[in-house]
Amino acid sequence: HLKVAVIGGGSSYTPELIDGILRYHDEFPVRELVLADIAAGAEKLAIVADLARRMIARSGKEISLRTTLDRREAIAGADFVTTQLRVGMLEARSLDEKIPLSHGLIGQETTGAGGFAKALRTVPVILDICRDMEELAPDAFLVNFTNPAGLVTEAVLKHSRIKTVGLCNLPIDTKMQIAALYGVEPERVFIEMAGINHLHWTTRVLLDGEDVTAAFLKTLGSGKGLTVKNVPDLEWDAAFISSLGALPCSYHRYYYMKNEMLAELASAFERTGRTRADEVKSVEAELFDIYRRPEVTEKPKQLEKRGGAYYSEAAVRLMKSIYTDKGDIQVVNVRNGGIISCLPDDASIEVNCVIKADGAHPLQLAAPLSPQIRGLLQLVKSYEELTIEAAVHGDRHAALQALTVHPLVGDAALAKAVLADILEANAAYLPQF
Ligand code: G6P
Ligand code: MN
Repeated sequence: HLKVAVIGGGSSYTPELIDGILRYHDEFPVRELVLADIAAGAEKLAIVADLARRMIARSGKEISLRTTLDRREAIAGADFVTTQLRVGMLEARSLDEKIPLSHGLIGQETTGAGGFAKALRTVPVILDICRDMEELAPDAFLVNFTNPAGLVTEAVLKHSRIKTVGLCNLPIDTKMQIAALYGVEPERVFIEMAGINHLHWTTRVLLDGEDVTAAFLKTLGSGKGLTVKNVPDLEWDAAFISSLGALPCSYHRYYYMKNEMLAELASAFERTGRTRADEVKSVEAELFDIYRRPEVTEKPKQLEKRGGAYYSEAAVRLMKSIYTDKGDIQVVNVRNGGIISCLPDDASIEVNCVIKADGAHPLQLAAPLSPQIRGLLQLVKSYEELTIEAAVHGDRHAALQALTVHPLVGDAALAKAVLADILEANAAYLPQF
């Protein structure tokens, strides 16, 4: 009897997850699916659950689906708990994007000062979920999608006994896009990724087992096409990519093209008065209108307007490989344990892992990370460490240092000013401060 609990079940992404569960049901035979949410999300939860039931009915699979506003009831006896919640919902994300902009800084959902604010709101909630799991489902896996996913995973690794794996759709997305560039099936491509969530580098590309990295980086040129929906698609400089010796991820644009990206965000905001969160609100409204229609029995095309493409693929593949002790390789967020030697052992990293029944085991890297990768990686990881300290203990000193060390802030006075605004705007969600 396989039970999966989805915390944040009212999310507009849920039909994506259901789609994956149905597609892989033969190998991952979920019997009981519980969608849990908070009272403020009850209406969305009911709409999503109705659609999910229609999707299940259409597939003919035997899955019992329930909703609940009682998280503990959802967790009790679960084999997998997935988290896809957003503390403060899109309204809070909108402020995360706008507050940094008002200080002349990049404002982004998961990166820089915006991601910092999200971490402060989220870490305490996720650790509460872990407490519930320790009591009610101590052997279950926590599959965490909640952003900032790498940082949240590290907080869980450091502050709970729960088995956990952190997930993002970018790695699988990147692999699919590289396969598409070569016009081959994804199975023929192997990529080595190294780094942390939303800051990983593709360090090797193998096609049919042959190392094509150098040629790939050359032909890739500007990297046009390799991106996600939510990050402005600025072109990479070809000479920069070849000297980097690796393919950056989409989010690297915020670091390597900081000025251009800031200009892009700031002018879009000036023109429209809206940020990505506001766009997403509109897309969500459109999605929920579709979800409500009784004749809709599958995940709608419009979901592709979201950044989370292949989310279900990543989530269900991971749970399936744990469940079947498969031993295949997937890129997930796990405890470092010496794999990236320039980072602390207890840090979370995003790398290729072998997925077994007891979890994800990171693979050795083919070569040590180059200095150009190491420097930025260490800076952002130290920001993450400090942010976890701040989020768990309400430590204002750690908070100030975290923002100051972050390359997208990088100035003590600015850090102090933006921190004050973040703490004030989020006070309702920050019991630890
Ligand atoms: C990306 C990331 C997710 C992020 C999402 C944002 O693909 O991997 O972690 O939350 O897209 O997309 P959205 O449509 O909400 O802007
Ligand atoms: Mn992600």
